[in-house]
Amino acid sequence: MTTDNTTASSTVMTGRERNVYPIFDRMLGKEDKENLLQQRGIVIWFTGLSGSGKSTIAIAVERELHKRGLLCRILDGDNVRSGINNNLGFFPEDRIENIRRIAEVSKLFLDTGIITLAAFISPSNELREMAAAIIGKELFYEIYVSTPIEECERRDVKGLYAKARRGEIKEFTGVSAPFEPPVDPALALDTSVLSLEESVNRILNLILPKIKY
Ligand code: ADX
Repeated sequence: MTTDNTTASSTVMTGRERNVYPIFDRMLGKEDKENLLQQRGIVIWFTGLSGSGKSTIAIAVERELHKRGLLCRILDGDNVRSGINNNLGFFPEDRIENIRRIAEVSKLFLDTGIITLAAFISPSNELREMAAAIIGKELFYEIYVSTPIEECERRDVKGLYAKARRGEIKEFTGVSAPFEPPVDPALALDTSVLSLEESVNRILNLILPKIKY
């Protein structure tokens, strides 16, 4: 990991210790934004292997919600890692910092009343629990895209599994780095069995009642 004194170390100081005085209480809050948008903000957190279909489903869900006049924001691994997290790799400490920043960014969107769709491998329960704790457990909906590795590897859309098998990519999730399935996801969707439409419908059934104003 690149040197960065804000990384996921255990020495997290309070605002006062760092001479930081947040002014959240004087700013308009989530409810004001939700009232403006006429929707409730939630975070839909997709977890699963590379190539499992997380981003494809998130994009299709966003289109459906957009059609219904609902404002969304997608945060996606490859995009975020090209921008705000372009200094992070795939060693465990980098993944912690990746998910920590994404969860903080998700919270900013959430507090703006926006339906936030986060699509990241987020390969361990510890990482996902950290994200849920930052975001707030009651507004965090974990969707496990459970497509088996054989299918992800067969698709190999980005050619990364082949590279990982040849040893050209280290720490590749599912090949040379672990993936721990969620314990109790709100939904599990195996895209080798379900159509995209069916996956989207299951998510809509789950979330439409939650985001209704
Ligand atoms: S996470 O584990 O930190 O949550 P994230 O979702 O941001 O991962 O990024 C995953 C994407 O980065 C993959 O879809 C893939 O395109 C790319 N990638 C590059 N190297 C790796 C690797 N070693 N392990 C997993 N994904 C990788």
